Amino acid sequence: MPLPSAPGSALLRTFTLLAVTGSVAVFAGCGGDDASDSGDSGGSGDAGITATSGDQIFKDANCSSCHTLAAADAKGAIGPNLDEVKPSADTVKEYVTNGEGSMPAFSGRLSAAQIQAVSDYVAEVAGQ
Ligand code: HEC
Repeated sequence: MPLPSAPGSALLRTFTLLAVTGSVAVFAGCGGDDASDSGDSGGSGDAGITATSGDQIFKDANCSSCHTLAAADAKGAIGPNLDEVKPSADTVKEYVTNGEGSMPAFSGRLSAAQIQAVSDYVAEVAGQ
């Protein structure tokens, strides 16, 4: 699409270009719903989670920043309250592996055994 006859102003044209580029970048930042940039907010722990017990994985994977789970002293409110939902281990596994909506997938950060451990843990303690 040709620019509307900008009155010979290279400055204006540069500015327009910057504005467009800028908004594209912002949009990509907000719209990306894959887990590739989930490290932005994580800080520590992203390098690799080595915990093997479900409760520790729950903390290390930052589940607590988004979910409430009394047994883990977690009070996050971005995702569903796990004490109310009381998901089965299979449900937890499904969500943690693949992600859903604004919940990131953890298949790249947790091993299958870790996902199983955190799933069993959540299913066991939810609602207590
Ligand atoms: C960035 C925030 C965030 C993080 C971190 C996160 N979740 Fe979630 N979680 C969500 C959101 C949002 C949903 C609802 C997704 C939807 O259904 O659209 C959800 C859904 C779930 C569900 C499904 C609940 C139901 O409705 O049955 C389970 C189980 C769950 N998360 C467990 C976990 C576990 C375990 C971890 C850590 C490994 C975790 N979540 C990390 C945000 C998060």
